[in-house]
Amino acid sequence: MRYTKIAFVCVIIIFSMLTASGMVSRTSKVSDKVIYYEKVVALTFDDGPSRLYTNELLDGLKERGVRATFFLVGENIEGNEEIVKRMYDEGHLIGNHTYSHVKLVGMSDDAIISEISRTNEAISRITGEEVTFIRPPYGIIDERVLWDVSLTPILWSYDTNDWCSQNADCIVKNVVKNVKSGDIILMHDVYKTSVSAALRIVDELQAMGYVFVTADELIIE
Ligand code: NI
Repeated sequence: MRYTKIAFVCVIIIFSMLTASGMVSRTSKVSDKVIYYEKVVALTFDDGPSRLYTNELLDGLKERGVRATFFLVGENIEGNEEIVKRMYDEGHLIGNHTYSHVKLVGMSDDAIISEISRTNEAISRITGEEVTFIRPPYGIIDERVLWDVSLTPILWSYDTNDWCSQNADCIVKNVVKNVKSGDIILMHDVYKTSVSAALRIVDELQAMGYVFVTADELIIE
């Protein structure tokens, strides 16, 4: 998924710079109180739900009290509705990753709208809520696609390349060494190694004082 990360990554980077400079504070709302965290990251998982691995990931996140963000591929939802319901019930953020994992730029308006609306409908049917966020496959999006999809894009600022290495030790080591507060971390819950790496990352970063939030909490003030 090493494609152009375009302007939205710039937005994230600019936001990170502002935050690092103290101009913006990241917050998480709990009831009426606003809590400020010094070290905060968001774990995001693309391409699921996976019948094989997502439940194991959800078990581990629940044990650790961590909420994450899942960008679902619509065609993977059928038959896995209970997993999606569980994500929602356990407080994770669910977003759209198109219906059949396509590169949206270059497609016709009708095809784009179909890719997005079919996935939105599949998610909403389970959660009862409208979908607000999209992560375009390969991180590729342009103004026309943005207009068609009517969703807020969330890209990432730290790519674990978990799909490529599929080596849990290597993934954990790199994230723990290089991650910084405010990062939106890209992973995929469709590999066994990613699930074990993600849970070890949670353990190590929590020990370092990091708090995990959903990705919307890092981009919206
Ligand atoms: Ni993807």
